[in-house]
Amino acid sequence: MTKSQLFRLSVAVGSVFMILLIIVYWDNVGTAHPYLHTSLSRSFSPQMLPNAAHSEERTTLSDIDEFLDKFLNLSLAQNVQVITQTEQPLVHEERVRGFDWSSHDIKGKLDQEKVQAERKRTLHQFCANSSFSFPWKERSFEDIPNRELDHLIVDDRHGVIYCYVPKVACTNWKRVMIVLSESLSNQGIPYKDPLNIPRQDVHSPSSHLTFNKFWRRYGKFSRHLMKIKLKKYTKFLFVRDPFVRLISAFRSKFELENDVFYRVFAVPILKLYSNLSNVPASVSKAFSVGMKPSFGEFIQYLLDPLTEKERPFNEHWRQVYRLCHPCQIEYDFIGKLETLDEDAVELLRLLGVDKQFHFPPSYKNRTASSWTEDWFAKIPLEWKQQLFKLYEADFVLFGYSKPENLLKD
Ligand SMILES: *[C@@H]1O[C@H](CO)[C@@H](O)[C@H](O)[C@H]1NC(C)=O
Ligand SMILES: *[C@@H]1O[C@H](CO)[C@@H](O)[C@H](O)[C@H]1NC(C)=O
Ligand SMILES: *[C@@H]1O[C@H](CO)[C@@H](O)[C@H](O)[C@H]1NC(C)=O
Ligand SMILES: *[C@@H]1O[C@H](CO)[C@@H](O)[C@H](O)[C@H]1NC(C)=O
Repeated sequence: MTKSQLFRLSVAVGSVFMILLIIVYWDNVGTAHPYLHTSLSRSFSPQMLPNAAHSEERTTLSDIDEFLDKFLNLSLAQNVQVITQTEQPLVHEERVRGFDWSSHDIKGKLDQEKVQAERKRTLHQFCANSSFSFPWKERSFEDIPNRELDHLIVDDRHGVIYCYVPKVACTNWKRVMIVLSESLSNQGIPYKDPLNIPRQDVHSPSSHLTFNKFWRRYGKFSRHLMKIKLKKYTKFLFVRDPFVRLISAFRSKFELENDVFYRVFAVPILKLYSNLSNVPASVSKAFSVGMKPSFGEFIQYLLDPLTEKERPFNEHWRQVYRLCHPCQIEYDFIGKLETLDEDAVELLRLLGVDKQFHFPPSYKNRTASSWTEDWFAKIPLEWKQQLFKLYEADFVLFGYSKPENLLKD
């Protein structure tokens, strides 16, 4: 055997080995063994993958693509069967008071389809419109760094991807994702009711499989797998009027006692924009002397070009287009907080899980759109205009009209 024959043989053997590995692993991911999902960190060794097909990446990848395509179809089909066979509808009437679920009839369904088509049309139109631009708009999916894919939560059992946007009912949608993917258990039994999952567990990164973790798990094939999943899975996100979302973020992170947000954000804001040199070290001390950043100071912080020098905006006020990449990822469903109840019914129906559980209703004191005028009343016009520029892409892409009343004298 010549050297080149040997080389080719080793490449072939390497490829077969890798495909076998993927089969074995995929089987684990695909089938519904709860114990495999309870610990997301316990994963198959990623170092084994990259070595296998060092050379000839191109040819192997297209084969794998086709192969995974078939395999993904198979495992998804199996899962759907498993679910419909074993799970009984869970309805908690006392928890869904306040919304008439029965009214969601055929007409409602048709209306919902129209609404979705319109939202997607708006999004596509502005993604395709080259005279409408915003930072990183033209970047391809391949060029998005892994750390910017940390908001995409994957459920392999049902084939669902959710891009979570903080301050847009994300706690409850994360709960739904945990139930769907069975990624968390209570005494060995996966949670079946989203409301039973403790709040701190909902937000723990270890409760979710996100795209930015793929690199650790799948090595250099991670992008490829992401693309296949993006093609096959149902992708959704929920958005909200950008200014209302900012008010909501301010209320929950600066008006309520929050030690982390106080130390990391409120202290620098107070020092920089209230011109205070002596700021208490703890949030309880600060609150006891009535020291909190004002909404105006928060806006100054957002508008200050130095703010993002060290690190990007915190996720609670980072623009949706930066969290979810709506021009790179073709979302199948765009929900809005303004129509959360209807959208939730439609989405659960679309995912085929509407018989299993209802979306948890929110009893919180939600920030209302009608409050914006009051909140922005004392903010200088120039700041409001700059703030609109900063969040304009979110307004435009998701069909929120420009708040003209705030943006002129
Ligand atoms: C996967 O399933 C879809 C429909 O569910 C089908 O259109 C497609 O051809 C299937 N792909 C393969 C490779 O079997
Ligand atoms: C494209 O964007 C520009 C700037 O926002 C806008 O004026 C124009 O109407 C848009 N064109 C289409 C076809 O949407
Ligand atoms: C900030 O405070 C310092 C002293 O505490 C004072 O000298 C300075 O003029 C103040 N600056 C502004 C802009 O108020
Ligand atoms: C809701 O929040 C507003 C503003 O933060 C407050 O004035 C109001 O009292 C709250 N209502 C309830 C029922 O907590």
